[in-house]
Amino acid sequence: MDLGVNIDHIATLRNARMGVEPSVLEAAFVAQNAGASQITTHLREDRRHIKDEDVYLLKEELKISLNLEMAATEEMEKIALDVVPHSCCIVPEKRLEITTEGGLDVIKFEDRIKKLNDSLHSKNILVSLFIDADPAQVEAAKRTNADYIELHTGFFANAFNKGNYEKELEKLQFAASLARDLNLKVNAGHGLNYENVKLMHKIPMLYELNIGHSIISRAVFVGLDKAVKDMINLI
Ligand code: PXP
Repeated sequence: MDLGVNIDHIATLRNARMGVEPSVLEAAFVAQNAGASQITTHLREDRRHIKDEDVYLLKEELKISLNLEMAATEEMEKIALDVVPHSCCIVPEKRLEITTEGGLDVIKFEDRIKKLNDSLHSKNILVSLFIDADPAQVEAAKRTNADYIELHTGFFANAFNKGNYEKELEKLQFAASLARDLNLKVNAGHGLNYENVKLMHKIPMLYELNIGHSIISRAVFVGLDKAVKDMINLI
């Protein structure tokens, strides 16, 4: 199982003073050298953290893969086709949310997502769809020719905090098995931390975990290099 480090929070901190530190690129290099398999960034429509120039710079400078999280909009499609990241993870986006709150409704937007996937594939960009652990959404993801699904682990993480996570874990396990049967690769992310990540091995065939908040939070105290290495050891 690989680790993708989400560095959006580094940009949030930088933007707090509208300056240049901490550097998003330097954070990506530290994560890369610590053993991360990919760097994940979410270019939001309101550009509240990561900016367009960050994405271009990361693409140019990184040795590991860049995974660009984005909404299924024409603006983001154009940027992705220009940047050509290794992969795009399509996420739903609401302007007033603090962070991504749930999975994409692939069934509702199936035609648009299929067209977007075809367009990204034309540049050899792999496509991942961030979805809830819902079998109908997994099947819809397959119909759109996505390469991966990223299972939303936020509900599991909330349940874990309440000490009652079995049902949410079972949903993730079932969705992952179904995806595997459909030949979709399975990633997971959102709300994962140094405790609940220890249960991720119970989900079959997980390929990669994308983790941001808990790693950057720990980095405040122990440094980013150690925070990434600690997470890789747990995985
Ligand atoms: N995966 C996706 C699709 C996300 O939107 C996010 C948050 O930006 C993450 C993973 C990482 O979540 P967290 O910051 O809670 O680790």
